[in-house]
Amino acid sequence: MATLGFIGSGSIGSNLARLAVAAGIDVVLSNSRGPQTLTQTVAELGERARAATPEEAARAGDWVVVSIPMSASRDLPAAALAGKVVLDTINYYPMRDGTIESLDSGRTTTSELVQEHLAGAKLVKAFSNISDFHILSLARPADAADRTALPIAGDDPQAKASAADLISLLGFDTVDAGPLTESWRFEPETDPYAAPYFTDPGAARAGWAQLADALRSGNPPQTPPADPGAPLPAAQLRTLLAETPRKLTADRVLA
Ligand SMILES: NC(=O)c1ccc[n+]([C@@H]2O[C@H](COP(=O)([O-])OP(=O)(O)OC[C@H]3O[C@@H](n4cnc5c(N)ncnc54)[C@H](OP(=O)(O)O)[C@@H]3O)[C@@H](O)[C@H]2O)c1
Repeated sequence: MATLGFIGSGSIGSNLARLAVAAGIDVVLSNSRGPQTLTQTVAELGERARAATPEEAARAGDWVVVSIPMSASRDLPAAALAGKVVLDTINYYPMRDGTIESLDSGRTTTSELVQEHLAGAKLVKAFSNISDFHILSLARPADAADRTALPIAGDDPQAKASAADLISLLGFDTVDAGPLTESWRFEPETDPYAAPYFTDPGAARAGWAQLADALRSGNPPQTPPADPGAPLPAAQLRTLLAETPRKLTADRVLA
């Protein structure tokens, strides 16, 4: 029986866990506050789910999803993750994570920094460019005609193949965006980032600007209207990845 470990069980982690359980994969969830705070999520997921510490989730997983704020990435248990295929959903938001100069200057990428900390693990950046709700609404069975493609990036070809197999079981095709040095191609506000999965990508981008204004003026952000999502075929994603300019933090509307 395959097991997927989770370090971080928030919006992204818990939705991926739902897809995993639906695919017949056992899940071990963890967060920063301890397994006792995940009782309700585990109950909702059913008998394939259990909660543990981050270290236990890392050791239990055949793959491990790390889905936490960038600011917490140094807490990831490097020894327990050594040798594992780690799916990294992390994005960098200075307003949440604090300023990281090597990212602001474009000298490196979030995933290269996480890989540096997890030296023994095989990192694959994945599920970082799709909104949490689209993870559920756009997942499709392997034989569906309207499958959505997600980019992956990583330095280990076998780990990327293994991650792609897992992602397919969860409901998505994949497009290889290259090694981790190329993973900027789907960091926040690049062309493949989040908007192409919306029914109206232009409105989604405009929504980021509105959210940025609301945050700057101290008003609580409005909850965006529910969007069912639009399937993004692999060929279209390949073009977006190839043609996107790099977006440095200073050029983003939401940072
Ligand atoms: N939300 C999206 O649509 C989206 C899309 C793509 C990528 N992402 C990225 O994916 C990551 C997760 O996003 P999210 O929206 O799922 O965040 P979230 O809902 O805030 O969940 C974050 C999770 O990380 C856990 N966590 C925080 N610090 C930790 C630590 N030191 N050790 C173990 N667990 C820790 C939290 O546990 P506690 O609650 O116990 O602290 C929580 O379970 C972020 O980097 C985000 O930028 C998000």
